[in-house]
Amino acid sequence: MNTYHTPVMLQTCIEHLNLRPGGVYVDATLGAGGHTLAMVQACPEIKVYAFDRDADAIAEAGKNLKDYPQVQLIQAPFSKMRTQLALRKVPSVDGVLFDLGVSSHQLDKAERGFSFDKDASLDMRMDGGQSLTAAEIVNDYSEQDLAHIFKAYGEEKQAKRMAKAILKARSKAPIGSTLELAKVVESVAGVGSRDSLKAKMRVFQALRIAVNEELAEFEAALPDAVNLLKPAGRVLVLSYHSLEDRITKNIFRTLAKGCICPVEQIICTCGLKPVLKVITARPLCASEEEQNQNTRSRSAKLRIAEKLMGDTK
Ligand SMILES: C[S@@+](CC[C@H](N)C(=O)[O-])C[C@H]1O[C@@H](n2cnc3c(N)ncnc32)[C@H](O)[C@@H]1O
Repeated sequence: MNTYHTPVMLQTCIEHLNLRPGGVYVDATLGAGGHTLAMVQACPEIKVYAFDRDADAIAEAGKNLKDYPQVQLIQAPFSKMRTQLALRKVPSVDGVLFDLGVSSHQLDKAERGFSFDKDASLDMRMDGGQSLTAAEIVNDYSEQDLAHIFKAYGEEKQAKRMAKAILKARSKAPIGSTLELAKVVESVAGVGSRDSLKAKMRVFQALRIAVNEELAEFEAALPDAVNLLKPAGRVLVLSYHSLEDRITKNIFRTLAKGCICPVEQIICTCGLKPVLKVITARPLCASEEEQNQNTRSRSAKLRIAEKLMGDTK
């Protein structure tokens, strides 16, 4: 399984999920199934509903988890978690794990088009059934929209210049491949420099997030996951860039605070009560040893929150 994707912060996640016999858990981002496998091995008397929108991941995890009938694989975006669980008559769960972003396999498989150093058509879809591809964004979106994507999802300082360079390149011929796009980025950031490598990373990350609507998906799914939790149930989020980590921090903070009335207002009129306790004031990171063994774990940040007892699910 390790060649497909090495699970990040595996033991830490298992410890903090507080698995208990009879419990029901959700792996929102199955991938190759590394975290799910460790969950059922640590506590076989649980039920796991595991989501991925990538058919390839579902097939790979199906092989890795074939001996575990307590795991149900669901090919769907995690924003549909609530309805998918309702269809299966699951009203509440004891824990949810999000391990966000793409798997190593998705990045490494050239034809998926996620990687700027592997020649492929500009695809970047996690769900091959979806119609929007990165090629469509690069070749059809306006200069303004492209600049917005690079700035908002890649935090790219030269977003406007990148968008302008794309418009210029595509006026001659459509930009069809990853390497063609990488060349356009280099035309702005310089060839072969460290800055250029980082710029390619930021532009490709931004496009990937836009193609898969990653932030909107997660912003919709995290409050749903919290709603599904039973009292003392936990939600764990492993993120790999500041945009996702910020969303997690803000949603946790809002749900832990409850009342949203202005500070100067003495009597609460919103009626909102805290529903979460934040377990990690600061995100947890992978150990130095893991970071040396698995480069992907270097950017990982794990945030954990626990449902308060007030909820009667
Ligand atoms: C980092 S990998 C998970 C790896 C997994 N924890 C393991 O150990 O093998 C993230 C996975 O989540 C999936 N994914 C990302 N966004 C998703 C979404 N909105 N809905 C469902 N799956 C998603 C990707 O297709 C990918 O397979």
